[in-house]
Amino acid sequence: MSNQKLRIAIQKSGRLNEDSLKILKEAGISIDNGKEQLKAVSRNFPLEVLYLRNGDIPQYLRDGVVDIAILGENVLVEKGEDIIRGEKLGFSKCRVSMAVPKSVKYNGIQDLDGKKIATSYPNTVNAFLKENGIQADLHIINGSVEIAPNIGLADAICDIVSSGSTLFKNNLKEVEVMLKSEAILAISPKITEERQVILEKLQFRLKSVLNART
Ligand code: PRP
Ligand code: MG
Repeated sequence: MSNQKLRIAIQKSGRLNEDSLKILKEAGISIDNGKEQLKAVSRNFPLEVLYLRNGDIPQYLRDGVVDIAILGENVLVEKGEDIIRGEKLGFSKCRVSMAVPKSVKYNGIQDLDGKKIATSYPNTVNAFLKENGIQADLHIINGSVEIAPNIGLADAICDIVSSGSTLFKNNLKEVEVMLKSEAILAISPKITEERQVILEKLQFRLKSVLNART
């Protein structure tokens, strides 16, 4: 018997963390969780869990430091196009959208030409702008993006929209949906054959959970 363990990255904190642990639990995988611990091991399945920052996960997958991860498709589109996509997991549904102040009259994408756009998703925005033949000036910020138009930093923003409440609170309106996203099982292109065998067992269990949920 091999003593190999499959290494999974889970979001350390934030909206994916809880639902990711929940789906593993429903798949019958127990993980002891010391809150401060950044690494945990399952007692009843050959799985080691690393709690990481969302944005760092694609690089860990690329390098083969972790074998798999649960993360938003939006993160893969932004910086993980080379990462293998497994099952969509049905939770953490959101959009990556462009928004402008409510008071602004918006007639279409051409209105963004020559404008300043604040975002944490530069690659996604650039691809979208290029596709539409629009030139804009990007301001890359990592959080609280929706404040940018109110403080004169940008004319528009591009960020995740889930309930829409952050846009609402900041007097913004969603004008373009660039991407629809949900949590997905992401797989390292460097996964070994031995660990691939463990992964297939995990995928089998996840599929049963997903079937039972629908
Ligand atoms: C995320 C995202 C949006 C908001 C969308 O921010 O960046 O701002 O949630 O969710 P909603 O449509 O349900 O309001 P988060 O709260 O994670 O903070 P951050 O941007 O500062 O990281
Ligand atoms: Mg935010």
